[in-house]
Amino acid sequence: MCGIVGYVGKENALPRVLDGLNFLEYRGYDSAGVAYFTNGKIKITKEVGRISVLEKKLPKDIYTNMAIGHTRWATHGEASKINSHPHRQGKFTVVHNGIIENYAELKKELKKAKVKFISETDTEVIPALLNYYYQQEPNILKCIQKLKNKVTGSYALGIICDDDQDHLYATRCGSPLIIAKAAKGNFIASDVPAILKYTNKYYLLDEYEIAQISMNKITIYNADLKEITKEELTFAGQAESILLNGYEHYMLKEIHEEDQVFLDTFNYYVTDNKFKKTMPHLKNYRQIHIVACGSAYYVGLIGKFLIERLAQIPVTVEVASEYRYQENFYNKQTLVIIISQSGETADSLAALRKAKEDGIDTLAIVNVIGSSIAREATYTLYIKAGPEIAVATTKAFLAQTTLMALLAIHISNRLDLLKHFNGLEQKIKYLLQQDYRQYAKAIYQEENIFYIGRQMDYALCLEGALKLKETSYINGVAYQAGELKHGTISLIKENTPVIGIATEAKVMAKTISNIKETKARKAQVILITNQDVPDKCYDKLIMIPKVHEIVSPILTVIPLQLIGYEVAKLRGCDIDKPKNLAKSVTVE
Ligand code: F6R
Repeated sequence: MCGIVGYVGKENALPRVLDGLNFLEYRGYDSAGVAYFTNGKIKITKEVGRISVLEKKLPKDIYTNMAIGHTRWATHGEASKINSHPHRQGKFTVVHNGIIENYAELKKELKKAKVKFISETDTEVIPALLNYYYQQEPNILKCIQKLKNKVTGSYALGIICDDDQDHLYATRCGSPLIIAKAAKGNFIASDVPAILKYTNKYYLLDEYEIAQISMNKITIYNADLKEITKEELTFAGQAESILLNGYEHYMLKEIHEEDQVFLDTFNYYVTDNKFKKTMPHLKNYRQIHIVACGSAYYVGLIGKFLIERLAQIPVTVEVASEYRYQENFYNKQTLVIIISQSGETADSLAALRKAKEDGIDTLAIVNVIGSSIAREATYTLYIKAGPEIAVATTKAFLAQTTLMALLAIHISNRLDLLKHFNGLEQKIKYLLQQDYRQYAKAIYQEENIFYIGRQMDYALCLEGALKLKETSYINGVAYQAGELKHGTISLIKENTPVIGIATEAKVMAKTISNIKETKARKAQVILITNQDVPDKCYDKLIMIPKVHEIVSPILTVIPLQLIGYEVAKLRGCDIDKPKNLAKSVTVE
């Protein structure tokens, strides 16, 4: 969601900022813009649509040492040139990621001081406020500092001022921002992929810290404007890890990394069938709440079944956007687990903060190192998925599911089950090598597709249906197989596509009966199972290798992801950047 990049240095800033914005495309956006100084004057160019449209509008011969750029995902006001960033008021030009919650109130106040607003955005109040403060006291750092007590909501800001063309300024609250150091200049960016072409050294900016960045110096201040020293971080992976490497889409590339992602996650926590010290002590908790959004929530559902079955501890799974506003019956032995690939999802972060305020221990399962959720939780367990670029999550889901299974074993002390992970990467590879186009061809022209299963298979149905919805815009809908007969079965008619998942031994016979009920109404059934079943109940069959239930979901999700991918491809969809979606959802 909204991407920010800024550069100040000895080299041409514009190509660097545009490169960075291109790497942030995966976050989702509908317009883009840049601001830069040329001959001492500010220039702003903005366009609706892709960054390539913006690039075409920029003069080819511009050489500038400082620029800020932005990709906007519309929240306040439609996707239009006027609403796109950068926004300017007086001497200040700003790019913003996040939401200013009290913007209406601030606009009202500033209008009284004769400020004129031209956009419908919440963001425009920021340059207006900075300019207003600057008129009272022309000290840029102090103006930025004053935002803390005035603005509510979330923000990561890149700021330039006409009176100081040697420095780029940045600050944040709630939304992520990094400051990066390269050989001939320095960057600000929303995320690490934006700067990897030029450097892998960066600092994480903490809440309300302010960075003042020149060509050769990065100075960081705390909220009291005291200069502080930050730990320099190094991105350990290769820059190539975020390139396509010959794959047609990131989604496909990322699915094909799943055998390695599984191994990396497993080996990070386990050696010689024992847990390493990387696992915290969690045995005293008697009640668990898992809180997450979207696919991460479905991982939570799988986690519930595994933890309850193995550890006999009650687990509730909640959607993060609801969790904050409902009654949550904690006690001192409650552990709240937050699952988030990005570690920046606003709803999940808010739920984490609520639990912390209530004095409850939290455990974060996160992919992005140093993200807000990772930093704020009591315990943090990283999955080892590497950068995930495609908007639809795939390899992170598989890694989260792997880690949930390990967590269930750890909490229940059932170390004997660790042996079931050995060699699983070969089975993952086998599933990755199968051709799923025949299944996609059977369903890609449909508008409604049913996914049915029970228990963990139902959680996987939800994930399969979401993959289809978000990448192909087909209404994939998941039902608990046993619920169908209580109403929904009325929708099943001749050729209605049904994807039945039946891998759970405990409910196998029952699920197969439910699938037969749809077949009896002439549905077109694709069955995903790990057992021989009567051939009258399906039209097409996908066999999953038979493994212990603790690791079974790790395999079952693969055909669901690849069917989603192949269907989207057949429909000619923009697979890595589906419409209306953002990779990191930093608004509530
Ligand atoms: C679906 C998808 C989303 C995310 C959800 C949570 O493919 O990617 O449903 O799972 O937005 O995001 P994170 O895990 O970053 O908190």
